[in-house]
Amino acid sequence: MRTIEWDDGVVRMIDQRQLPQEYVIVQFTDYREVARAIKEMYIRGAPAIGAAAAFGLALCARGSVAKTRAEVLADLEEAAATLHKTRPTAVNLSWALERMLEQARKAQHTQVEQIVHALVAEAQRIADEDVEVNQRMAANGAELIEDGYNVLTHCNTGALATVDYGTALGVIRTAHEQGKRLHVWVDETRPRLQGARLTAWELMRYDIPMTLIADNAAGHLMRTGQVDLVLVGADRVAANGDVANKIGTYKLAVLARENGIPFYSVCPTSTIDLSLPSGEQITIEERDSTEVTHIGEVGIAPEGVPVFNPAFDVTPHRYVTGIVTEEGIIYPPFAPGLRRAKGATS
Ligand code: MRU
Repeated sequence: MRTIEWDDGVVRMIDQRQLPQEYVIVQFTDYREVARAIKEMYIRGAPAIGAAAAFGLALCARGSVAKTRAEVLADLEEAAATLHKTRPTAVNLSWALERMLEQARKAQHTQVEQIVHALVAEAQRIADEDVEVNQRMAANGAELIEDGYNVLTHCNTGALATVDYGTALGVIRTAHEQGKRLHVWVDETRPRLQGARLTAWELMRYDIPMTLIADNAAGHLMRTGQVDLVLVGADRVAANGDVANKIGTYKLAVLARENGIPFYSVCPTSTIDLSLPSGEQITIEERDSTEVTHIGEVGIAPEGVPVFNPAFDVTPHRYVTGIVTEEGIIYPPFAPGLRRAKGATS
C-alpha cells in the first residue's frame, strides 16, 4: 500500500516505528491522532508529513459539527495550528496545511458538506500529486547515475518518506529500473536509524544492491574512492539553495566536496521555501534525549547524561552540486533556478 491512504473517513498509515521487524497498519479518525502520529514519527519524511497533515484537516472537516462556513473555518484553523506544531523543519507540512485552508476559504457561499467534500478531494490530490511528482523527479535525477556507480545516501528518502516512490531513493530506483548496475551505501542514520531500518528494508525489497554502513564510515569510503555520488533528500530549501535535511547531511556534503564527489539534494518544489533568504532562518527541530541515550528500548548511556539532539542540519549551498526537482535539475546560482521551478508550480 501507499505510506498513507484515505478510506472513507479513515486515515490509514504504515507505522514506521515498527519497521523492519513488523509491518503494521494503523488507522485514525481524529486529526489529533494524526498530529500525534506525525510527532511520534509513525509517519515521517517531508512529503509524507505534508500528506498526513492534509488528511488530518480532511478528518477535522468531516468530524466537525459546525453549522456554518465560518464555524468550519474556525475548526480547521484550530486543527491546522495543532498539526503545524508537530514538526517544525519540513516545510511540506505548512505548505500542505496552507493549500487545504486556501481550499476551505475559497469555498464561499457553499454548504458545510461541500466544504468537507472539497477538503477531502484536495487532500487526495496532494497525495496523488506527490506520487506523480516523485516519478518526474526520479526521471530527471536518474541521468546523474552512471552504470557501475556507487551512490551514498542518508536517512530514508524512499516510498516511506513520501506517499509513494520516493525522492533521492526514487532516483536510485529509476536508475535501477533503467538497467544501470549500481550499488548503494546506506548510512544507518543515528539516532532514529531511518537508514538501517527503512532504507535498507526498501532497497532489499526492490533488489537493489546495497551495503549498510555506520554513519562514521562515510568519510573513509569517500577518501578511498568508493563513492561516486551522494544523493540525499531535503526538508526545506531556502531561497539561496541552503538545504535543511536529516542531521549528518552537512558532514556528508563537506566530505564530498573535500573528495571531489558530486553532492545532490532531491526534493519536490513543495520543499522549496522562498520566504527564507537562507538556511540561517530555518528552525531546526530538537527531539527527545531518549533518541540518543537509547537504541529502541535499550539504554546505551549513563542515566541522567546531558544530551543535545538536533534532528536536522543545514548544508550551505556552496557544498551543493545541484538540486533535483520535478521541474528539472537546478544548478548554481540557485536563487533564479529555485524561483523559476517554484513559479512553474504555483
Ligand atoms: O526525521 P525524518 O525521518 O522525518 O527526516 C526525513 C529526512 O530528513 C528526509 O531526508 C527528508 O524528509 C526528505 S526525503 C523525502
